[in-house]
Amino acid sequence: MKVLIINGSPRLNGNSSILINEMKAIFSKENVEVDVYQVGNKTIRGCMACGYCYEHEGCVFKDDVNDLAKRFEASDGLVVVSPVYYGSANGTIISLLDRLFYSSHFDKRFKVGAAFAIARRSGTTATFDELNKYFTINQMPIASGRYWNNGYGREQGQISQDEEGLQNARIVARNMVFLMRAIKDAKEKYGLPETEQITFTHFIKKEA
Ligand SMILES: Cc1cc2nc3c(=O)[nH]c(=O)nc-3n(C[C@H](O)[C@H](O)[C@H](O)COP(=O)(O)O)c2cc1C
Repeated sequence: MKVLIINGSPRLNGNSSILINEMKAIFSKENVEVDVYQVGNKTIRGCMACGYCYEHEGCVFKDDVNDLAKRFEASDGLVVVSPVYYGSANGTIISLLDRLFYSSHFDKRFKVGAAFAIARRSGTTATFDELNKYFTINQMPIASGRYWNNGYGREQGQISQDEEGLQNARIVARNMVFLMRAIKDAKEKYGLPETEQITFTHFIKKEA
């Protein structure tokens, strides 16, 4: 069982990393393999809607995104953690997630998702909603916690004083392990739900 964690912060040992470490401790106690990728300190451009990924495998830009898609495919769950910048997730993680989800076409159904927003003061619930949307458009169940997943602190390390935020992260990690195990068992017992040919309309008109 494996979890991929994407850290949107540019800070190597920032508040996002501290929250991630709290989750990692739970995952390793439960023998869940963890693969962490930090994107906030990388140069990752946004999607340019070129359509290359519909004709070829992967994204036209040969950076970390294509490799990360393979790591995502090999995982049972995905944790996305972002610092809040101007009331939203940080720009680099959004560029990455747009391209990762758009350019990869493997079946993401029933991989378990969890998102966290880290802030000095405000914008966490909007960011939490923003990040969860990558899961809910892909039939990925969400592991929830005791609050809308956030963590507070401005300077590096201040989140260590946010006892409730870190406790919630541990709870979400445990819930995620439970869900991933339950889904694995259910897949073996019942298989995945039947799928349909997807109808793709622009509100009323079907694509030609
Ligand atoms: C460009 C920028 C914009 C920010 N915007 C917000 C914001 O809208 N709301 C907020 O509460 N904190 C904001 N912050 C503060 C960060 O979210 C906060 O310092 C957070 O702990 C950083 O997480 P990290 O240490 O994991 O990078 C902003 C910081 C930066 C650099």
